[in-house]
Amino acid sequence: MTQLSLRGSDRVLHVAWPDGTGADFPFLWLRDNCPSGFHPQTQEREFDLTGIPMDIAIAEATLEDGKIVLTWTGDGHVSRYDPEWLRDHRPGIGLADPARIDPVLWRGDFPADNLPRASAETLLSDDAALLDFLIDTKRTGLAVVDGMADNKDAGMAMARRVGFLRETNFGATFEVMSKPNPNNLAYTSHALPLHTDLANQELPPGFQFLHFLANEAEGGGSTFCDGFAIASDLRESDPEAFELLARTPVPFRFQDEDYDIRRHHTVIDLDPFGNLQELHFNAHLAGIFDLPAERMETYYRAYRKIMEMTRSETYVMTTRLAGGEMVIFDNRRVLHGRAAFDPNTGFRHLRGCYVDRGEFDSRIRVLSRKRAE
Ligand code: OGA
Ligand code: ZN
Repeated sequence: MTQLSLRGSDRVLHVAWPDGTGADFPFLWLRDNCPSGFHPQTQEREFDLTGIPMDIAIAEATLEDGKIVLTWTGDGHVSRYDPEWLRDHRPGIGLADPARIDPVLWRGDFPADNLPRASAETLLSDDAALLDFLIDTKRTGLAVVDGMADNKDAGMAMARRVGFLRETNFGATFEVMSKPNPNNLAYTSHALPLHTDLANQELPPGFQFLHFLANEAEGGGSTFCDGFAIASDLRESDPEAFELLARTPVPFRFQDEDYDIRRHHTVIDLDPFGNLQELHFNAHLAGIFDLPAERMETYYRAYRKIMEMTRSETYVMTTRLAGGEMVIFDNRRVLHGRAAFDPNTGFRHLRGCYVDRGEFDSRIRVLSRKRAE
């Protein structure tokens, strides 16, 4: 049976569940999370924390009909909690998240044939298969869809199965082909060294969907590398370079006739817990470094080091996507590139779009709800 013990001196209620789990719940946390303070439909908090004193305390804690019932000092408010709900939200642990999927790092020896792969038909029609595929894609950061319809909008339709599109200055979708008057190196036939797209944006787009409508020209093979593998190896092998790349903001910039979009970012971006969150790596869009002169050479040493890693066989996966295939990758983790191609030898045409990480994760959570039912 669930047991309660009030520890007034520590201002916590200790709850022990029948399975042996136990946790302390601070008084203020309990009052702030009283179920009566949430809108029953939207589940949003309406309770106003400033309406209670900081020294609010529990006058009585009892178990009634399987609920934990607390009576508060002061206004005598009564709160009723489901013990399972409290267990799922234990302070210091928090709610399990189906979209929290640890990345599995890969390096150059990872065969492209082992990437997560599914057919467009399956993903468009089967929610369970879509969920498995999204989870796998999040784990590796890179996956392939085959059997795409030979239709310019097929990539967007697949991306919209996951979430709404992230529009950018290149539009909701962009055409990658050799064009006259290109405003971007991707729209030439030149090689593109490994990069993340749109590092010049305040928040670079999350997942990229790149549909190969045709890839018939000589050249034009694809390269990918796991930026998290590079960054975590650098953290071990050269902590000084890692720190410089994680702490030094450098400018990125895109400009054409209509836009001038600039942002400083660190090349390696850590979350508030110190975990790898994102890489900003794009030599074409890197602005003119503006560090103080005396720090420039030390920074260049670290920057060049990570750049060398993105050129090394240790990290780079080389593959070739065929017409009818689409790659999906986490643009904030996995770097992508291509070999130069000869536009006189055949047609090469890709169409791309983005879905941000937040929408991608939301889709995993909502599909997981159905699975749990
Ligand atoms: C891009 C890009 C890759 C390719 O458009 O940003 O990286 O294979 N394209 O053309
Ligand atoms: Zn790109």
